Amino acid sequence: MCGIVGYVGDKQALEVVLDGLRRLEYRGYDSAGVSVLDGSGLQVERKAGKLANLEELVSGRAMPGTLGIGHTRWATHGPPTDANAHPHVDCAGAVAVVHNGTIENYEVLVAGLEQRGHQRRSETDTEVVAHLLEERYADGPTQGDLPASLRSICKDLEGSFVLVVSHRDEPDLVVAARRNLPLVIGLGDGENFVGSDVTAFIAHTREARAVEQDQVVEVRRAGVTVTDLEGTVVDGDSYHVDWDTDAAEKGGYEFFMLKEIEEQPAAVRETLGGRLDADGLLHLDELAMSDEDVRGIEQVFIVACGSAYHSGLIGKYAIERWCRLPVQVEMASEFRYRDPVVGRNTLVIAVSQSGETADTLEAVRHARSQRAWVLAVTNTVGSTISRESDAALYTRGGPEVAVASTKAVMTQITAMYLVGLYLAQLRGTRDPDEVRAHMADLSTIPDLLTELLGRMEPVRELARSLKDEERVLFLGRHVGYPMALEGALKLKELAYVSAEGFPAGEIKHGPIALIEQGTPVVVIAPRHALQAKLINNVQEVRARGARTIVITTDGDASVLPYADDVISIPDTKSLLTPLLTIVPLQVLSAEIARARGLDVDQPRNLAKSVTVE
Ligand code: F6R
Repeated sequence: MCGIVGYVGDKQALEVVLDGLRRLEYRGYDSAGVSVLDGSGLQVERKAGKLANLEELVSGRAMPGTLGIGHTRWATHGPPTDANAHPHVDCAGAVAVVHNGTIENYEVLVAGLEQRGHQRRSETDTEVVAHLLEERYADGPTQGDLPASLRSICKDLEGSFVLVVSHRDEPDLVVAARRNLPLVIGLGDGENFVGSDVTAFIAHTREARAVEQDQVVEVRRAGVTVTDLEGTVVDGDSYHVDWDTDAAEKGGYEFFMLKEIEEQPAAVRETLGGRLDADGLLHLDELAMSDEDVRGIEQVFIVACGSAYHSGLIGKYAIERWCRLPVQVEMASEFRYRDPVVGRNTLVIAVSQSGETADTLEAVRHARSQRAWVLAVTNTVGSTISRESDAALYTRGGPEVAVASTKAVMTQITAMYLVGLYLAQLRGTRDPDEVRAHMADLSTIPDLLTELLGRMEPVRELARSLKDEERVLFLGRHVGYPMALEGALKLKELAYVSAEGFPAGEIKHGPIALIEQGTPVVVIAPRHALQAKLINNVQEVRARGARTIVITTDGDASVLPYADDVISIPDTKSLLTPLLTIVPLQVLSAEIARARGLDVDQPRNLAKSVTVE
């Protein structure tokens, strides 16, 4: 969580930093702050609430200077107040620090600092770093050396952190350090950047370099030096970011989420692109396993959180069906604590849009410690999960800014099908013609999505009629069940409506008691082998007073007598239906949130990249 930017160059730093923070605001948005170094010292401004509050505070205020750092916060230690907003400074106001993460031993460090006469002005763990820097820069072996001071402090810190620091006596230096959380360097011409991700500087440069574990970066106008904690310079490769800058802008949409929903046909096309050879066989060289190792896989685990977990559930249906391999899908936050039976012949697939989710990362580390082969399925090139896994399959969804995941989930599901088909092809559980046929079906999805997105107005109208509901249930069977979970999660997080998803066959074992006269129940019932059973479930809930909202397939009249509202999707193979049924669920929740006057992109209490456990 938290977004961080650091800049040194020849532009006005305030503008560069605020622009970066705007793009990073999805990472946390309960307070924000900036610090700019001018001839007379550090100017620091901080404000509780969204970035707009900070922008209002600094608008029209002179904050000249070409070196700056900034932060947008998701509170961990101390509530989101002005005083707890970053940057934090030392007693003399000479050092400014922004921080993402948690310093677990901060209480011990605070006690020592207070004994030595430092005055704390916030309740945060971050502030200790400013005071420690004050001491180490003033005195001792690291005196007058800001990078060395930070390196020495990092050795004393426990926990996870990205720290970005500037000092009033260092007009050409921003220093940053990283442990467990993401930090990327932006390499410009006469200017350089650090940021939580590449969107922080993508408007200025597309050359990036990832910072590795326990490294410290010295960012100057003329160049960047990376060292380990002992001060030894470490080389590293830069990479080119080919994301379209427009993709990180709203482009006329009221919310990013609405734009990202519309981008899904193109996103799926990207995920599928270039995967077939001239013979129509699937290539997924990213898996980086030998054919022999693929044939040796005995079980698969899929680990993920939230919506990515729902994508993983679809992966289970696909891999089990096509590969006849046992697949377990685990919430990453639970995986490593229950000592799962994972070994050399286990493939672990970690699904994560950001590639930074702390729970998923820890699951990856645990799986690797058990000698499993770990494949990351992620949207973010250079992310920690991709780097710590044995191999990475990129979903190529482009930047997703809205906190609620849409095109990322869509591309994750698509990637799950690709992995399933590829394993089936290599293991010989599906013959090449069948793989080709499934790929041909998948390749029709982008056009079907475009068509479906073109007829969402009735869904929006339906959503507006649901705006005052406080409880909605979602039912599905087979691959419709994970989509019921996804529909419920989206509604909860965006509209703050109490929503639950169930396997439709389960409701008679308890949840049916929730149904009262008029309770909306969304049933995901496209044309499918189990549709007859779903129709029974629709009748059961309707008989108890539910308002039934049924997602069905174009031209399918079987469910109409039992549906109060119908949402129709184009026909496709039953296993692929999640790629279509998910769309009206996204639109429904976004529109209910909008009708309730909520911020669709930045729901309360959330952040996009969940880098705390
Ligand atoms: C819900 C949502 C979250 C994420 C989850 C995992 O709309 O976006 O549930 O899916 O936090 O995030 P990643 O995929 O970045 O690991």
